[in-house]
Amino acid sequence: MTNDMALLQEQFRANPYAYFDQFRDNPIETVDFLGFRTNVATGYKEVEAILKDPRFIREWRKVAPSEQVIEPPKRVQPVVYLMTNMMLFRDAPDHTRLRSLVNKAFTPRMVERLRPQIEETADDLIERMKQNNEHELIRDFSYYLPVVVIAELIGVPREDREYFRKWADAFVRFIDFDADYERMEMVADDIRDSAEYFRSLIQKRRVDPREDLISGLIQVEEAGDSLNEDEMVATCLLLMIAGHETTVNLITNGFYLLMKHPEQLALLKADPSLVPNAVEETLRYEPPVLFTSRIASDDMEMFGKELKKSQEVMVLLGAANRDPRVFNDSNTFDITRKNIKHLSFASGPHFCLGAPLARLEGQIALEKLVTRLQNPTLLQEPEWRDNIIFRGFKTLHINAGVI
Ligand code: HEM
Repeated sequence: MTNDMALLQEQFRANPYAYFDQFRDNPIETVDFLGFRTNVATGYKEVEAILKDPRFIREWRKVAPSEQVIEPPKRVQPVVYLMTNMMLFRDAPDHTRLRSLVNKAFTPRMVERLRPQIEETADDLIERMKQNNEHELIRDFSYYLPVVVIAELIGVPREDREYFRKWADAFVRFIDFDADYERMEMVADDIRDSAEYFRSLIQKRRVDPREDLISGLIQVEEAGDSLNEDEMVATCLLLMIAGHETTVNLITNGFYLLMKHPEQLALLKADPSLVPNAVEETLRYEPPVLFTSRIASDDMEMFGKELKKSQEVMVLLGAANRDPRVFNDSNTFDITRKNIKHLSFASGPHFCLGAPLARLEGQIALEKLVTRLQNPTLLQEPEWRDNIIFRGFKTLHINAGVI
C-alpha cells in the first residue's frame, strides 16, 4: 500500500462519516473513493432505492465484458468458487433458492426461542467477569456471545469454535474493499481450511444427524436436488462468519457509545425499556457494516446519473444513516430518537438474514452490561480494526465492578 493510501485509510477509520460527507453533492457521484475511481451513493433515498432495484445485481461476471474477466491466481480460485456459492454474492433465482432454505431458521419467532440460551450465556460470561475489575470487553464478553449462539445453531462442536476466529478474520480480509490478489493469496489457505472443516463436519452429520442446521440442510439435500454439498459448505461458512464479524461489533460499539455519552447511559439505566431503541441507534450511528456495493446489470440512468452495464456503485449504508434530510441532528447519538429506520442491515432481497438474531443478541447484551457493570470507565481510548468495510474495535479495555 502506498503512503497516500495508508493516510487516506487512517483518515477514513478515524471518521468515516466525515469522509462520506464529501460526496453528498449529487445523488450518485463518480469520485476517488479511498484511492479507487468509482461511483458512490450517500443519500438515504438513493441507497435504499439501489438496494431494492432488481437492475442492480451482485454477479459482476455475468455482465462484465469478457476481456475484463481475468482468472484469479490459482490459489485464490477455490475461494472465489466458494463465494459464488454464498447467497450474499448471488442474484435470483439462485439467491432466492439458497436464502429460502435457511430463512426458516432465522424468522423472529424461531429466533425468540433462543432467548433463554442467549440470556444464560450472557449471564455466565458476566459471572466470570466478577473475578476482576479490569476487562477487555471483546475477549470477555462481546465476542463469545454471538459466536457461541451461531455455532450452536449451525452445529459446530464447542471445542472447534476457536478455529473460527482466524478463519473469519481471513475471510473479512479477503472481501474487504482494498483486497488485492496478493492479500487474497495470503489468506486463501485459511479460508480453504474453513471450507474443508465444514465438508468433514457435514460427512459426520450424514451418519450421525443432530438437531442442528447442518443436519437440516442435509435432509433438504437428500430429499431432492435443491442444494448441493458445495452450497451447504458455503452457507454454513457464511452464517458462521456473519455471526463472528458483526454482532460482536454491535455490542462493543454500543457499550462504548454509552460510556462516551454518560447522560445516555444514565437514561438507559433509569429506563431499561429503552434498550431496543438504544440498539437501533447504535446500528444507525456506528454500523458494523459501513458499506456494500452493487453492479449495474445494463446501461441505465439512475437519479440523473448515466451508468454503463457492469459499472459498480458503492452503497454507503453508514452515510445513508446520517442523511440530514432524514435524521434530525444526524451526527448526534440519541437513544430516545423516534422511528429509527437505519439501513445497517441493508434493504431489498439481501436484507440481512440474521437481523432478528443480531437484534435479540444486541438487546440482551446491552441490557446485561448496563444493569450489571457498575461505574464503567474506559482504561484507554480503543483503536479501530484495520478493516474498511467492517467497523469494530481491536480491543475495548474498561474498568467496572460487576454485580
Ligand atoms: C449487527 C449485526 C449484523 C449486521 C450489521 C449485518 C449486516 C448485514 C448486511 C448489511 C447485509 C447485506 C449485505 C449486502 O446486501 O451486500 C447482511 C446480509 C446477511 N447477513 Fe447480516 N448482519 C448482522 C448480523 C448477522 C447475523 C448474526 C447473521 C447470521 C447468523 C447474518 C447473516 C447474514 C446473511 C446470511 C446475509 C446474506 C443475505 C442475503 O444475501 O440474502 N447477519 N448482513
